[in-house]
Amino acid sequence: MTRLSGITPSGHVQLGNYLGAIRRWAADGGPDDLYFVSDLHAMTTAHNPARLRALAAEQLAVLVAAGVPAESIFVQSDLARELGALTWVLECTCSYGEAARMIQFKEKAKGRAGVRLSLLTYPVLMAADILLQGATDVPVGEDQRQHVELARALARRFNTTYGEVFAMPRAVLPVAGARVRDLADPRRKMSKSAGDSAGVVFVLDEPDQVRRKVRRAVTDTATEVAYDPQRPGSANLLEILAACTGEAPEEVAARFGSYAELKDAVAEAVVETLRPVREGARELLADPAELARVRKAGAARAAERGSHRVDAALRLVGAGG
Ligand code: TYM
Repeated sequence: MTRLSGITPSGHVQLGNYLGAIRRWAADGGPDDLYFVSDLHAMTTAHNPARLRALAAEQLAVLVAAGVPAESIFVQSDLARELGALTWVLECTCSYGEAARMIQFKEKAKGRAGVRLSLLTYPVLMAADILLQGATDVPVGEDQRQHVELARALARRFNTTYGEVFAMPRAVLPVAGARVRDLADPRRKMSKSAGDSAGVVFVLDEPDQVRRKVRRAVTDTATEVAYDPQRPGSANLLEILAACTGEAPEEVAARFGSYAELKDAVAEAVVETLRPVREGARELLADPAELARVRKAGAARAAERGSHRVDAALRLVGAGG
């Protein structure tokens, strides 16, 4: 089994990324797993080059500080040549309709002028990330499931049309923390690229910022604390606390008599959960030489593991030497 997953430096790492993804990468990480900072994916909408570089470094530091094994980590653009070639081959395996059907594309393209073509083709690059490395298990949150299904469809189509090169990947969803919602607008998922960050807890936020955001979280008008997915604001707080303590949200709800008490408990649990990650990441960011070393070693390993598949795929489609 090879697990692989990525995170896009389109903003600062937030609590949903940590609870839904990074934390599990650290806990499950086996010797063949790969986790990466998908910086090429952060260019599908207008971006600032210097900010992209800084955010990629931040994410690399957060992954290491969160306990993801350093030897499993790489930065996507260090494999730009392999991934670019494989993306092209896979784009020639994918129909326009399949790409245009992606929910995330429809949401992000809606009402926007000058949509970059890469916003449409981004799930194909994601398929290349997965298929290049022969990944079988792709731990992601609910929002990425459709993209992993596309990768699977493309792998199957390529293998039956041209010859067996790719392993069949599947999405693996977390039990808890699969969908952390925005604290200020619980109808939306928490997102690092949200325009308004009042309801987004960032992993590098100082404890007092975390407390402030949690205390201002939107709940509902009911006075008793109960777990009811139809009440998204309070359900979100209970799910966050449950994800931090390893309990079920219903169990957690039974302990609280008021939302004020619940919010205090959520704030403290989040602060303590994030503390070692924040402190470790800040230390690493102050040591660019160490970060560069991790990045270089990861790039070499990932390229060595994956490049034979792009060579094989090119040969089978009638290209390459
Ligand atoms: P990204 O950067 O949007 O998110 C990284 C991971 O965090 C999860 N996540 C959440 N989980 C719970 N609650 C939330 N509010 C929340 N927000 C984000 C995501 O599901 C994801 O697991 N395209 C991907 C990165 C990527 C990738 C890949 C993943 C690029 N190539 C190949 C897997 C395989 C992305 O933008 O994730």
